Amino acid sequence: MKRVPVILYGAGGVGGALLRQMVYGRERMAARNHCHFAVVAVADSKTWQWAVSGLSDEQLLDIAAAKQQGLSVDPQWRVTKPVAMQRPSDHGVLDAASEAELENVMVVDTTAADGMESVLKRSINLGYSVVLANKKPLAAPWERASGFFNHPRVRHESTVGGGQPIIATLRYLLDTNDPIYQIEGQMSGTLGYICQRMDDGVAFGTAVQEAKTNGYTEPDPRDDLGGMDAMRKLLILGRLAGWPLEESDITVESLYAPEMASLSIPEFMAVISHLDETMQARVAAAKANGQVLRYVAEVNAQGGSVGLKAIPAGSALANLKYISFRTERYDDEPLLIGGKGAGVEMTAAGVMGDMLALVREVY
Ligand SMILES: NC(=O)c1ccc[n+]([C@@H]2O[C@H](COP(=O)([O-])OP(=O)(O)OC[C@H]3O[C@@H](n4cnc5c(N)ncnc54)[C@H](OP(=O)(O)O)[C@@H]3O)[C@@H](O)[C@H]2O)c1
Repeated sequence: MKRVPVILYGAGGVGGALLRQMVYGRERMAARNHCHFAVVAVADSKTWQWAVSGLSDEQLLDIAAAKQQGLSVDPQWRVTKPVAMQRPSDHGVLDAASEAELENVMVVDTTAADGMESVLKRSINLGYSVVLANKKPLAAPWERASGFFNHPRVRHESTVGGGQPIIATLRYLLDTNDPIYQIEGQMSGTLGYICQRMDDGVAFGTAVQEAKTNGYTEPDPRDDLGGMDAMRKLLILGRLAGWPLEESDITVESLYAPEMASLSIPEFMAVISHLDETMQARVAAAKANGQVLRYVAEVNAQGGSVGLKAIPAGSALANLKYISFRTERYDDEPLLIGGKGAGVEMTAAGVMGDMLALVREVY
């Protein structure tokens, strides 16, 4: 049985689901994969729990439940919040593992934090492996991000497609020497929902409000409407395809005006309906040509774009579920990958799949 020490940064929706999947999947992983994940550290933004021999399953489930209630990872901190109990820095967490002489550690980043690149790079240099659900390190400037692409000890299936085998498919195409010409798809479930509601005749502002009420948007809907999340996914796919693109190579259409950026969330929600008429006109113009308006991401070796585009109503791309790869072999009929791709459980399962793949291939 392989015992794999795990450091988990981030125990929110995805990290918490991952902890539960690790605990409840232990017997199956032992029988099928002959491995045991010993979670030695779990950190949120301020606190952590650490045990060199591995935290108990009770502790892991307690952390997942506490974070769901908005509490911290460290139970003592939950009560008194002592400054002295703050966790070590992100690098300090790694120091604890290396000082304890742990080997073959798996570092998992399920944060949405900026600036994790240096921690992840150091993890690789320590001989550890890295699994990410966090897109930001992979979408950082190429100079900082390049080392994470096609590295045998780095996996990031869940960064695109919410756990569906999108990246695995792209790797397969590259491994089998099928040059990639173009990748496209709807990379934002939230914007896909808003577009589909506009097809139904719902005004743009109402659709955004609905998406927010249903919990489909980030707490600040501008994080979705600005297109940056979709841009990061596209950049990751393009870079993995072999194109060293920068953010500046991708054109991003934001679905709100620049002057709305400084408003508070309630102020923003109060004025979002100002865009109703413009959007309605675009939807109507598309409809008159048998098309629908979709927030489409497309990339090739030269660059890419994310933004609203009128596309044939019956096309695969009009369907939220597909990402398409046009390649030398799949030229006139692109390869489509699709299915339900959303939510923390599926995303966590994608992270778990990466962890098990590393155990199989590297450990
Ligand atoms: N949710 C999805 O369906 C989905 C799908 C695909 C990809 N993803 C990606 O997965 C990641 C996690 O998403 P989520 O929905 O789980 O987000 P979330 O619920 O906001 O959780 C993020 C967690 O990261 C912690 N954190 C922030 N900075 C940290 C740091 N430096 N070190 C350790 N922990 C830190 C936060 O701690 P505090 O609680 O202390 O703030 C929080 O617990 C994101 O990058 C997201 O884009 C999510």
